[in-house]
Amino acid sequence: RLDVSGKLVLPGAIDVHVHFREPGYTHKEDWQTGSAAAAMGGTTTVFEMPNTNPPTRSAAELRAKQEAARKSHVDFGLYGLFAEDNLDELEGLIAAGANAFKCFMGNTFGNLPSPSTGAMLEGFEIISRHGLRISLHAEEATIMARRQERLAAAGRNAPLDHLLSRPAIVAVEAVGRAAALAEWTGARIHILHISSAAELRPLAEAKARGVDITGETCPCYLFLNSTDYARLGSVIRVNPPVREASDSAALWHALRNGAIDMIATDHAPHTPEEKAQAVIWRADCGFPGLETQMPLMLTAVAEGRLTIEDYVRLSAEAPACAFGLWPVKGRIAPGAHADIAVVDPRRRETIRAASLHSRGKVTPFEGREVTGVPIHTLVRGRFVQRDRRLVAETAGWGRQVTEIQRMPTPAPRNEALAIRALTASLRGAA
Ligand code: NCD
Ligand code: ZN
Ligand code: ZN
Repeated sequence: RLDVSGKLVLPGAIDVHVHFREPGYTHKEDWQTGSAAAAMGGTTTVFEMPNTNPPTRSAAELRAKQEAARKSHVDFGLYGLFAEDNLDELEGLIAAGANAFKCFMGNTFGNLPSPSTGAMLEGFEIISRHGLRISLHAEEATIMARRQERLAAAGRNAPLDHLLSRPAIVAVEAVGRAAALAEWTGARIHILHISSAAELRPLAEAKARGVDITGETCPCYLFLNSTDYARLGSVIRVNPPVREASDSAALWHALRNGAIDMIATDHAPHTPEEKAQAVIWRADCGFPGLETQMPLMLTAVAEGRLTIEDYVRLSAEAPACAFGLWPVKGRIAPGAHADIAVVDPRRRETIRAASLHSRGKVTPFEGREVTGVPIHTLVRGRFVQRDRRLVAETAGWGRQVTEIQRMPTPAPRNEALAIRALTASLRGAA
């Protein structure tokens, strides 16, 4: 028996945006270390990105990734790549079990070329016939490249130049374009890593037109802003960049009122050597996020910036609904999978990169005090983390979620109300 008095029993987080780096970059992460980070962070399902080497661009590469993922501690979905040159592979990827698609509209780690608008239209048409969601790295590549060239030519090298090279307009333009194509084709889309207040407008407008569009933001855009560049140097480099304090404030507001649907981590591990660079343009972009997401967000709950019901909606319920995992994941109710994070809402810890289970032992949150930590994680009823320790023998317990996505799903709205009521009552009992 487990004594949970004084604890919160939450549905495990569902993180639709992680990079586990296998195959190709396993010095940064692999499926065992990445999924261990998830288990330690209270995340019970991850959706893993295709910018590995080789990228997940055909059925054969998806099958190789399924093989690599056999050592996962947590359940997972796999993204297929959708690019200019693999439109003929999309049906094959779906048949092989891709759970969602990723489209890079702008350049980022992995250097995958962004598709033209025409190729995007064709891909949206193909994928929409199967109902799978398309997640977009929404940045217009041409504007971005011009800015970067100009800054590099001027010999500029301050961390803030990373922010200047990717002004919010490159994202606003891309969100609007993706939404127009989704409206035209009926595709379901998801906007990854929303970093600016400006992106909220095309997102809200598309929702109002009835486009099936969801959006996420990530802890770095909520807890960091442009005043952190000088202190963190190249460590803060992430695509898109961390922006102004006013952007963070708008993102917090959007999380509370539902304008942004969910939080994801964009867990993007790199080695300390790859991150610590004198020239900002040489630093790899991104950092690990799976082990810091829940403590950071629970700290915000402790400070009254968000309710615990909001957190459950953003971390579990909304991603489950959007990615076809409802009703058996992202909730605590009879018939649901026992995917659970038991949280000690009062436990205080200091974030230390050295103690992360991820191979990417560098974080912009180094030294930050947090209140609220997942102390046990269960995936389908089995402990994968117990008392802040990884259960090592659960490597291989994780399963791909393909079968769940094929199950008929009841209307999520009423269910969403039910889970909110249930979470509230659990909180009362704790
Ligand atoms: C990601 C990575 O390293 O794979 N990096 C990042 O800065 N976010 C790629 C991405 O999500 O754009
Ligand atoms: Zn991205
Ligand atoms: Zn990413």
